Amino acid sequence: MAVTTRPLDRVADFPAIPEGWAYLDTAATAQKPTAVIDAITRGYAETYATVHRGVYQRSAEMTVAFEASRRRVARFIGARVPEEVIFVRGATEGINLVAQSWGGTQLKAGDRIMLSTLEHHSNIVPWQMVADRTGAEIDVAPLTADGCIDLDAMAEMLTERHRIIALAHVSNVLGSVLDARRAAELAHGVGAKLLLDGCQAVPRMPVDVAALGCDFYVFSGHKLYGPTGIGVLWGRSDLLDAMPPMHGGGAMIDKVSFEKTTYAPPPARFEAGTPHVVGVLGLHAAIDYVESIGLDAIHAHETALVRETRDALSSLNSVTLFGPDDSAGIVSFAIRGVHPHDIGTILDESRVAIRAGHHCAQPLMAHLGVDATARASFGVYNGRQDVEALVRGIERVTRIFA
Ligand SMILES: Cc1ncc(COP(=O)(O)O)c(C=O)c1O
Repeated sequence: MAVTTRPLDRVADFPAIPEGWAYLDTAATAQKPTAVIDAITRGYAETYATVHRGVYQRSAEMTVAFEASRRRVARFIGARVPEEVIFVRGATEGINLVAQSWGGTQLKAGDRIMLSTLEHHSNIVPWQMVADRTGAEIDVAPLTADGCIDLDAMAEMLTERHRIIALAHVSNVLGSVLDARRAAELAHGVGAKLLLDGCQAVPRMPVDVAALGCDFYVFSGHKLYGPTGIGVLWGRSDLLDAMPPMHGGGAMIDKVSFEKTTYAPPPARFEAGTPHVVGVLGLHAAIDYVESIGLDAIHAHETALVRETRDALSSLNSVTLFGPDDSAGIVSFAIRGVHPHDIGTILDESRVAIRAGHHCAQPLMAHLGVDATARASFGVYNGRQDVEALVRGIERVTRIFA
């Protein structure tokens, strides 16, 4: 991929980020660039119509734009054909779709599902639900000391009973990056499928599903500078072709009668009902936006901000840093004797917005021996001044609680 050298000092692109506000919660949701806001506004104010069924010109044009977005997503993540791209509400719905549809038909008692200690609840609970239904059982791959999924340990645990491995490509708490290619080799070595939860990876690094060798990939538009309510499930065609729908309704059928209903092929089979038309257009604009900067450049930029943050915080005695030094855009930390919520509240007084809590990863919190962490996460709009504001704010917290 061509890497541009456009500077990443991009606050001007983001009207909801006022001067002097350090927004450090991009792992929860990214602020929106004007290009995305404009695409959404145009979608409602100028070109709005339904898709796939209108016989009038406006609807036909919207259908063309909608399907162009699908092709854009396919190109963005290296899908072979656009039909492998299913529009869903977000990563949560994408994982539920695979768990219910693929898992519900492929898993049986005695089969095993491999997850890891650091998964988001979205990549735990859907598997627990399908395990309850089918009698399959869940194993949990441990972490290395610095907070990466321990693939050596996972390799020892894998058996031919494992049918699916579902792992975060990047941890939303620790920022640790999975060696996804090796995970795919390990999965396929025992005949299992690999699902990658790409929520935190897609906004932070180039992703090519074919090169990674995975079988399913999910992400959410709102973490990629796009709208909420739209996300992507990518699946290998042969797997999607064999999967039953999760939702029934309009748009996903071939023929309906009270005697027998048949379903459309993917992607329509998995997109019942009127889709989030304008959300899909916004996602297209978001992908254009991040690619105009370059995912390699974004990755390098965020990695540098993480390094500066970790260097500065590691010199403070009372601060504990979680996760590896080379984490992607995310730094979780604790301050001795201070609850993370208090850290977040005091930083907010200095106009620094971080996240504090369990980050929908309670098993990881248990592993770390804490109820919650404070988390700073970076995006394209952050710069050194945000790191400095964060560090000043944390020094203030330590003074207040000293
Ligand atoms: C790693 C990871 N997986 C899944 C999700 C769920 O994403 P959404 O709530 O957009 O469906 C998140 C969101 O925080 C996440 O960070």
